[in-house]
Amino acid sequence: MAGFFVSFEGGEGCGKSTQIGMLQSYWQGQGRSVLPVREPGGTAIGEVIRHLLKYHPDNGAMTREAELLLFAASRAQLVREKIEPFLAAGGLVVADRFLDSTTVYQGSGRELSAELVAAVNGFAAGGCRPDVTFLLDLDAAAGLARARARQAGRRDRMEEAEISFYETVRRAYLALAREEPGRFCVLDAALPAEEVHRQILQTLNERGYGLCS
Ligand SMILES: Nc1ncnc2c1ncn2[C@@H]1O[C@H](COP(=O)(O)OP(=O)(O)O)[C@@H](O)[C@H]1O
Ligand SMILES: [Mg+2]
Repeated sequence: MAGFFVSFEGGEGCGKSTQIGMLQSYWQGQGRSVLPVREPGGTAIGEVIRHLLKYHPDNGAMTREAELLLFAASRAQLVREKIEPFLAAGGLVVADRFLDSTTVYQGSGRELSAELVAAVNGFAAGGCRPDVTFLLDLDAAAGLARARARQAGRRDRMEEAEISFYETVRRAYLALAREEPGRFCVLDAALPAEEVHRQILQTLNERGYGLCS
């Protein structure tokens, strides 16, 4: 039984957690073993890094270089401690953000060199890449409105960024998806969640990761 690896990408509020929950339930209903992971985080070490990046009171002073390396450190741990062993055992890994988030947020968003970010990503992830990456594409304002409604006033550093930053992120994601059409699947995240879920299952079937194996 072959393992495989699916990642979900897109701005805050696009529906990643919602779709991951639905896909996880679907696969578990089929008796498959599923490992959900989130970036940054997903291991004991990674969760400490996540807290530092997202909630530490002094994180406004963090340099973009330190931010890039912290994301990479979390990923390096996650890949070797959790993802690779789980895939080797035939499991299904579902990632809430993976290396494309670093390319987009630290590369395009924070204006670090694309070559440098790619080199750090390559070092951190080794050869580990998702088999399929779903980009949940949503208008920046709509995504922010969803994220804010969900959080009911609690904001983290990323969500305080300007709307123009979200637009930059959206464009960068779409450009990445055009570069790697074999891995990416871009979905319209403004559709009802049930419809997005249906399209995800259809895509997995079409790409050979459906009910089989
Ligand atoms: N397709 C959808 N249409 C409308 N609202 C949605 C949809 N998917 C998710 N939501 C809602 O939008 C908010 C953000 O969704 P969430 O899955 O948490 O996004 P993310 O994990 O990408 O930040 C939640 O309140 C969720 O219920
Ligand atoms: Mg989420």
